[in-house]
Amino acid sequence: MALPASSSTSRALVLALFSLLLFSVQGQLSNNFYKKTCPNVQTIVRSVMTQAVAKEPRMGASILRLFFHDCFVQGCDASILLDDTSTFTGEKNAGPNANSVRGYEIIDAIKTQMEASCNATVSCADILALAARDGVNLLGGPTWNVPLGRRDSRTASQSAANANLPGPGSSLATLISIFGAKGFTAREMTALSGAHTIGQTRCQIFRSRIFNEANINSSFATLRQQTCPQTGSDNVLSPIDIQSPTTFDNAYYVNLMNQKGLFHSDQELFNGGSLDKQVKQYSNNGAVFAKDFAKAMVKMGNLSPLTGNNGEVRLSCRKTN
Ligand code: HEM
Repeated sequence: MALPASSSTSRALVLALFSLLLFSVQGQLSNNFYKKTCPNVQTIVRSVMTQAVAKEPRMGASILRLFFHDCFVQGCDASILLDDTSTFTGEKNAGPNANSVRGYEIIDAIKTQMEASCNATVSCADILALAARDGVNLLGGPTWNVPLGRRDSRTASQSAANANLPGPGSSLATLISIFGAKGFTAREMTALSGAHTIGQTRCQIFRSRIFNEANINSSFATLRQQTCPQTGSDNVLSPIDIQSPTTFDNAYYVNLMNQKGLFHSDQELFNGGSLDKQVKQYSNNGAVFAKDFAKAMVKMGNLSPLTGNNGEVRLSCRKTN
């Protein structure tokens, strides 16, 4: 016959069950998080993004990158949106972000409308996750359900932004390791890199590739050198995907197959290494890429979100309450 559990054992059991329950309630995002509190959340984000992308298609790309740079630093907690002040150092001036990441005003515009509709309810982190999804979709890319319920951080980390975000000179091994540190497989990293099918970049980012590297299509290099000379023009922009810079398609991978990757790091994915096969598959099959990209984006959106009573819902995305 089983002996009755001692009262201390049953107390421990109840406590363990309770913590499990608390964890599952607090630690998870859900598709209908704002169903009762802000039913128009998706419509508001979509309408501001629609106007922004119609005005400037690049904005879809800029917001997607903003989300990536948020999630890889302390998780998807809107830490990147906090402005520097005399007493606070945020992430905006970290190396990978300064004079580069953009789109903050669009997030502000969404937030203003959100506050007018549902005061102090929807986090900046959730707004960013939805806006990134809509930016991709408005440029012809896939759509996906964005689980919601993230809260905003009260902190930011310039040092983590400098350490955790990959640079354009990265080797394949470095890319695999940086994404691996965030729980992504090399396959997922390759899918996420397809984001470079949209958007623009500055000359100083790819100059050394177009002048010094051998695994580059020579007419492509010559063309790029016309607007990005050896000296000067550091901030002159070029599309990352020369074929279709405002369409979210699989042309990025076709470019890589033709040695037309603009960043050293891009071409590393197709340079005789372990990911060549996958690049080839995506270049042949845009639907497989779109599906893998969407799945990896949901995973990226799940990076260490603040939930439950952690963090706060900021009233202005630029500062803590
Ligand atoms: C794999 C490693 C990656 C590296 C080394 C990298 C690096 C860069 C660099 C250097 C730029 C141009 C910055 C400038 O010219 O100021 C850029 C632009 C961009 N990146 Fe990445 N990135 C990576 C992955 C990603 C991921 C995972 C995403 C999103 C899922 C992404 C989305 C973008 C977008 C959309 C742009 C264009 C932004 C615009 O036009 O405003 N990148 N990236």
